Amino acid sequence: MIEIRDLSVSFGGVRALDSLTMTLQDPVVGIIGPNGAGKTTLLNVFSGFVTPSSGSLRAFGTELLAMRPHQRARWGLRRSFQAEQVVDDLSVWDNVRVVLDSAPRGAGGDTRTQVAAALEFVGLAHQARVMGAALNAYERRMVELAKTVVGAPKIVLLDEPGAGLRDDEAARLREIILGIHPRFGATVLLIDHDVELIVATCTSTVVLDFGQLLVVGPTADVLQDARVKAAYLGIEEVE
Ligand SMILES: Nc1ncnc2c1ncn2[C@@H]1O[C@H](COP(=O)(O)OP(=O)(O)O)[C@@H](O)[C@H]1O
Ligand SMILES: [Mg+2]
Repeated sequence: MIEIRDLSVSFGGVRALDSLTMTLQDPVVGIIGPNGAGKTTLLNVFSGFVTPSSGSLRAFGTELLAMRPHQRARWGLRRSFQAEQVVDDLSVWDNVRVVLDSAPRGAGGDTRTQVAAALEFVGLAHQARVMGAALNAYERRMVELAKTVVGAPKIVLLDEPGAGLRDDEAARLREIILGIHPRFGATVLLIDHDVELIVATCTSTVVLDFGQLLVVGPTADVLQDARVKAAYLGIEEVE
């Protein structure tokens, strides 16, 4: 369970998060809202890149805000970025393995077994020796995902993992996201503009608007909510 209480972030005059309070219980939770709503800022607060002016963020009984970013990684917090961070002159294997230098291994065997499991999970097992520079955009996205599940993740934060993917790639991404909790036990928080992806993967969904919680609930109910439709006026996927 993730408990967010009275969380506020300001950038100069902009209140990117405004006294945000909510409790998240489901294994995969969607985070949607118009551009500038505060979605990425919320993930930045989780990972420690942004320090809120007030509030608390408890996950499975642990106050994340009391920990430094590297301690949060060690605790089991993982994220992917809107701009992927694959290292060109490391192999796929080493891109994933380095995560275990700063995070604990899971219960499922040694480093080798765990890296292999993460690569197999995202479909990159046969490309373990390929250098980062040789990967296409989809493969780079998959390396980024493998990095979020290797070891013992507790929370996996995904910021628009579906952006720019073809339909067949998006379908594979959907299956991978659905597999994270059953396979690795981590809770997934997913930001994406692809409402189909959110519907297919997220049991519940949070809608942010101007840094505030507009609605949270079962995904189907949330997407039918009149306030959500109004916030998205003109965006046809929600209609
Ligand atoms: N580092 C920053 N410095 C100044 N303003 C920022 C910064 N990060 C985000 N913002 C502002 O905070 C608001 C929320 O941004 P963001 O969390 O990126 O929204 P979203 O991911 O929902 O599109 C926006 O108004 C954005 O311009
Ligand atoms: Mg964003």
